[in-house]
Amino acid sequence: MTDLIQTERDGAILTLRFNRADKKNAITAAMYAGAAQALKAAEADGTVRVVIITGAGDAFTAGNDLKDFAENPPKDSGAPVFQFMAALAGFTKPVIAAVNGVAVGIGTTLLLHCDLALAVPNAKFSLPFVNLALVPEFGSSLLLERFVGLRKAQELLMSGETFDAQTALNFGLVSALVAPEELLGAAKAKAQALAAKPPSALRAAKALIRGDLANVNARIAAEAKVFGEQLQSAELQEAVAAFFAKRAPDFSRFS
Ligand code: COA
Repeated sequence: MTDLIQTERDGAILTLRFNRADKKNAITAAMYAGAAQALKAAEADGTVRVVIITGAGDAFTAGNDLKDFAENPPKDSGAPVFQFMAALAGFTKPVIAAVNGVAVGIGTTLLLHCDLALAVPNAKFSLPFVNLALVPEFGSSLLLERFVGLRKAQELLMSGETFDAQTALNFGLVSALVAPEELLGAAKAKAQALAAKPPSALRAAKALIRGDLANVNARIAAEAKVFGEQLQSAELQEAVAAFFAKRAPDFSRFS
């Protein structure tokens, strides 16, 4: 497995870390594959009771690696990014996000599939899909509304505007703000409390709260189809070129 995904076992708790701090933990296909593999192994291992997801350095994750995505777009539902989404969306045990910094794109949408989320006070969140000529992914076009209401979901998903940790707390997207040096300890304390609970009751509660997984998976697939089409678009080429050239994109020639 790639060392850009790090796993660490502490009793019944598995911590999965995006470990590419120099690129703000932007996620490549190899990293998605590694994270999917780690989640599948944790699902199958009865001694793992809770998973914590966090990032190395000062970022949670800058989302999809734009270079990797533009050059090697996911081809079908077997692509690593979709393996990761399926593994997390269908994960039966509690998952806690410890958001240690900026959470862009899937860094924010993966929170919709976690059972608890804590963040540092200077964390920043955004869903910049449309700004990149993409569309909402990982079920966010369906699930964000559950957290923030339809009107706010429309605004966040269409504007792609960044919001701060206090706003994420107000939305209920995270449940507490914790100082950086205490974040992992706080996440582990929550994880230990959950690990001590009766596991089958906890799994059943999680499944009931999540609701219809088939519906969520159908939306993930529908989003992925359009996302894949947009990845091939000239609009996306312009957005990615602008990001790496550190300039504003110009979409005026598109209709
Ligand atoms: N894909 C590929 N590389 C990325 C990246 C991404 N999503 N996000 C950051 N990086 C790289 C930068 O190119 C830079 O590389 P360099 O040091 O070789 O120049 C490095 O990571 C650090 O990023 P930088 O932009 O200098 O850090 P910052 O603290 O000023 O800003 C972010 C951090 C996350 C706000 C900013 O990098 C950003 O907006 N990234 C793009 C996020 C995005 O659009 N993700 C896709 C969602 S679908």
